[in-house]
Amino acid sequence: MTLALELVHLTKQFGEKAAVDDLSLSLEAGTFLGLLGRNGAGKSTTLKMVTGLLKPTSGSIRVLGLELDADPIAVKRQIGVMPEDMALLEYLSGPQYLRFVGRMYGLDEVTIDARREELFGKLDLSPALGTLVAEYSFGMKKKIALCAALIHGPRILFLDEPFEGIDAVTSRTIKDILLTLQQRGVTLILTTHILDVVERLCPLIAILDEGRLKGYGTLDEIRGRANGESLESLFVELVGGAQTGELSWL
Ligand SMILES: Nc1ncnc2c1ncn2[C@@H]1O[C@H](COP(=O)(O)OP(=O)(O)OP(=O)(O)O)[C@@H](O)[C@H]1O
Ligand SMILES: [Mg+2]
Repeated sequence: MTLALELVHLTKQFGEKAAVDDLSLSLEAGTFLGLLGRNGAGKSTTLKMVTGLLKPTSGSIRVLGLELDADPIAVKRQIGVMPEDMALLEYLSGPQYLRFVGRMYGLDEVTIDARREELFGKLDLSPALGTLVAEYSFGMKKKIALCAALIHGPRILFLDEPFEGIDAVTSRTIKDILLTLQQRGVTLILTTHILDVVERLCPLIAILDEGRLKGYGTLDEIRGRANGESLESLFVELVGGAQTGELSWL
């Protein structure tokens, strides 16, 4: 079976700091991985490297059997990405932005517009068509970033905190979309701080801590290790650092 993703001794050094530290991980196609970790653990840095947005300091990345370094365009054709900062072209309208993205993937405008209408309907995104992305609310920007990640029908989807700032109704819709994609064999990797999302969606979990893989396994394996405690308790125990005590002036 082709592996969707293989990370071998992946490291990203920012000066003295190893944001990602010797990370090795193999994911079979069709899996749905929830990548967890505290702020600064290295989740976004990992996603940026595996999607070609950031060059690793060392180590290698294979996506769907292709070496990312040697074949970046072939890899990018097959993946969809929603980066942490969304990386939108804000001085285009939503439809213009999706046309720009869709054409980069080789789609014609009729197909792009038809998919955009479906996506907008599903995500309840209904700006006046001429409204610039710059004028969208935060949640609307998240939604258009998700549309851009989905428009070409990727085989692997990388989503960095897709539920942040999204209303509860749309969150449910997005969860449905992601589960449907998984049933169709798409590989999904998402980061989130919402443990409830991981418990509901992700059969496989990886926990990063200071750039290193601190926990990895199926949800059931991780739950087994939790001895009946919640995923939150296990997470806090694994990565440590919970602060107690009062603030001096309050
Ligand atoms: N461009 C950069 N230059 C220098 N240091 C960076 C850069 N990007 C990230 N870092 C550092 O790398 C570490 C990992 O950051 P990263 O953004 O990957 O964390 P994260 O797990 O995504 O956190 P969060 O949950 O807050 O999004 C942090 O210590 C951060 O300060
Ligand atoms: Mg991040």
